[in-house]
Amino acid sequence: MRGGRLGIDSDPMKRDYLSVDDLSPEDLTGLLDLADAMKADPTAYRDRLAGRAVALVFEKPSTRTRVSFEVGVAQLGGHPVVLNSSELQLGRGETIEDTGRTLSRYVDAIVLRTFEQERLEVLAGAASVPVVNSLSDFEHPCQALADVLTIRERFGGPGGKILTYLGDGNNVAHSLLLAGAKTGMTVRIATPPGFEPIPQVVHRAAEIAAETGGSVEVTHDPEQAAKGADVLSTDVWASMGQEAEADERALVFPIFQLSQQLVELAAPDVLVMHCLPAHRGQEITAEVMDGPRSVIWDQVENRLHTQKALLLFLLGLA
Ligand code: CP
Repeated sequence: MRGGRLGIDSDPMKRDYLSVDDLSPEDLTGLLDLADAMKADPTAYRDRLAGRAVALVFEKPSTRTRVSFEVGVAQLGGHPVVLNSSELQLGRGETIEDTGRTLSRYVDAIVLRTFEQERLEVLAGAASVPVVNSLSDFEHPCQALADVLTIRERFGGPGGKILTYLGDGNNVAHSLLLAGAKTGMTVRIATPPGFEPIPQVVHRAAEIAAETGGSVEVTHDPEQAAKGADVLSTDVWASMGQEAEADERALVFPIFQLSQQLVELAAPDVLVMHCLPAHRGQEITAEVMDGPRSVIWDQVENRLHTQKALLLFLLGLA
């Protein structure tokens, strides 16, 4: 735990992970190398968080994120403190800043799943310990770490590979754009008109890709996007908080369904990915999700390894 002056300032040297763009390409590679090493020999790291605590705050539901962070901290010898916002004073109007100042006096890092990205930024500004974005409406940067590790494991290196994401240009798409660009991939995003990723993220990913040898394309043509792809990925059509739009979205998204027809347009050794939870028969068919090209359960497992590496990296304990 780090105590700030009067608990109102954040250490300018502390590292947060609010966006994939908080990691340089070199940081990202180093973090994934560490995750590889931790996955290969978890016992070598089992005391690395001894005497430390990590707060895991959820303002939205979670299965994978909650369990992988909670188990990951415990595997490192630390103490995870899982907090549902409805059980905190946060749910009764205490500010996110005061929550951050308070938690910083007890724990060594704060992981937050929330709605607006700004909420994470405000928390990070007030907290004196590292803050991690475990999903906002804008990005899902922890998911992107697991996805890139999974791609690396199968291909030996993501550089030069074609990663195609089909569906909503949402938080998962934003983080994949940035992570793909940072690792030198060609990232293709295929969405219905009106559901593109936000232009600032596309622009930033293109800037990064220009440095790493990758590239970025946004299209409305799912077949063109799938042609020759090394990875086909998707996500739900209506994210958490968009449930009221589900019926309307279901009218325009079906041609972006990750189907066997699209798999057959991709490279023969294509990897099928989905961050989960999935709706078989909507954004992905059961045949593809449960088929031989799916690496979805490796993605699930790699949330654990990458997040353990991330915590050590942010705490300077790598
Ligand atoms: N992919 C993901 O973040 O899963 P959960 O919503 O279950 O945490």
